[in-house]
Amino acid sequence: MSILKFPENFIWGVATSAYQIEGAWNEDGRSPSHWDTFAHTPGKTRNGESGDVACDHYHRWPEDIALMASLGIQAYRFSVSWPRILPTGGSQVNQKGLDFYDKLVDGLLEKGIRPFITLYHWELPQTLQDLGGWPEREVVDHFVALADVVSRRLGDRVKDWITHNEPWCTSMLGHQIGQHAPGWQDWPAALKAAHHVLLSHGLAVPVIRANAPQAEVGIAPNYEPAYPLTRAPEDVEAARLWDGYFIRWFNDPLFGLHYPADMVALYETKKCLPHGLDFVQAGDMEAIAVPLDFIGVNNYTRQIMSGQISLNHVQTAASPNPNASYTEMDWEVYPNSLYDTLNRLHFHYHAPKIYVTENGCSYSDGPDGNGRIADQRRVDYFQGYLAGVHQAIGNGVPVAGYFIWSFMDNFEWARGYSQRFGIVYVDYQTQQRLPKDSAYWYKDVIKHNRLKTN
Ligand code: FCB
Repeated sequence: MSILKFPENFIWGVATSAYQIEGAWNEDGRSPSHWDTFAHTPGKTRNGESGDVACDHYHRWPEDIALMASLGIQAYRFSVSWPRILPTGGSQVNQKGLDFYDKLVDGLLEKGIRPFITLYHWELPQTLQDLGGWPEREVVDHFVALADVVSRRLGDRVKDWITHNEPWCTSMLGHQIGQHAPGWQDWPAALKAAHHVLLSHGLAVPVIRANAPQAEVGIAPNYEPAYPLTRAPEDVEAARLWDGYFIRWFNDPLFGLHYPADMVALYETKKCLPHGLDFVQAGDMEAIAVPLDFIGVNNYTRQIMSGQISLNHVQTAASPNPNASYTEMDWEVYPNSLYDTLNRLHFHYHAPKIYVTENGCSYSDGPDGNGRIADQRRVDYFQGYLAGVHQAIGNGVPVAGYFIWSFMDNFEWARGYSQRFGIVYVDYQTQQRLPKDSAYWYKDVIKHNRLKTN
C-alpha cells in the first residue's frame, strides 16, 4: 500500500447545481427557466422527469449542509438559479430569490465550508430564451447584470466565483445536438451561442472583481480529451477534429489564442459558419481572454476516435474500448483523461491555478437491508482519478482543490433520475439522505489529506 499525501492547503469539496437539486421551481417568485420548459415538453427527458421537486434542497438545505459538515467537506460548489434572482431576466431583482443564497452562504460559512458559486449552470430565464437565447448578443448584457447583482450581494463573503459551467454543453449540447435545453439542432446558432457564452464570461469577470475585490474568478469547461485508436493518420485526424470541436474551440479563446484556425476553416466549408466569424466584434477576443485566477476542470471520461468522421456525427463517432469498464452513463473509466488534461492545461495553456470542479461516476447501488450502500465501484473510480491528480501535482501542476460530482443523487438532465452520481443516496419518495460508503471513504481522505492506494 502507498500513501499519497496532498498539499497542505488542498481543498476537498463537493458540487451540485441549482436546477438539479433545488426543486421549488415556481416558489417565492422564481419564473420558469428554459430547462423547466424543456423538461415539461413531452419526449425531452426520460419519462418526462423534471427538476420540479428534485431533492427539495430549497427547503432542506440546512439538513444538507449539516450532512456536508459531518463528512468534513471543506468547500461546496453550487450554482444560483438565474430565474430565481432575476425572474424576467431584466433588472427586476427578486429579493426572496437572492435571500435564499444569502442564507445558504451564511449557513455554509458558519459551518466552516467555503462556498464556490457558479453563476450559470444552464438555467436561462425563459423570457430571455423567448428573445432568442444565447445565440442573441443581447443575452450577454443580461448575464453581466446577473453577475453584478449576485456579486454585489454575496461578494463580501464569497471569494470563489465560476462564471459558466461547461460552455460546450450550453452551446453545442443545447443548440447543435439538441439533447439539452433549448433543444435546437442548428450549427450556426450553436457557434453564436458559444461566442456569447465566452464573451459574457469575459465581461463578467471584471464586474465580479470590482464588487468583490478579494475574489478569485474562473470558469469550468468540460474536458473529454480525444485519443486516436491507432497511429494511423485518419485516426489522429479524427482525434484532432474532436479536440477542435470540444476543447480548443472554447479553451483557445479563453487563453488568448483566438478561435482555432483549422476549425474556423472547417466550419466555414461545412456552412456551420455561413457568414464566417461575423458575430465577433472588435474587442471581443481580448475580453474573452481576460486573465483568470483559476480554471475549473470538469472531467469524467475520454473519447477514442478512429477513421473518417463527418462533422455532423462527431459526437457519436467514438469507438468503445472492449477492455475498459464503463459507468452507467456509458462513460469509460479512464483516469488518465484527468491526469492528461491537468498537464495540458498547465504546460500548454499555462493555467496559473486549477481546481477539479467536477469528477464523478454514475452507479445505481442502493441501500441493502441494513441501509448500507456499498458503492465500491465509485470508491475505485475516485481512487484512480485522484491518483492522477496527485501525480500531476508532483509534476508541478498547480491543482488547488478537487470537487466530487456530486454531493447527492440528483436530476441528471435528459437522463432524469435514472443516473445516481451522489456520494449521498437520495430516496426520492421520502427525500431521505443516506451517505454511501464512498461518502465515508471521502471523509477519511479529507481528514488525513491523503489517498491510500494499493
Ligand atoms: C456535467 C454537468 C453536471 C452533471 C454531470 C454528470 O456535464 O456539469 O451538471 O450533469 O455532468
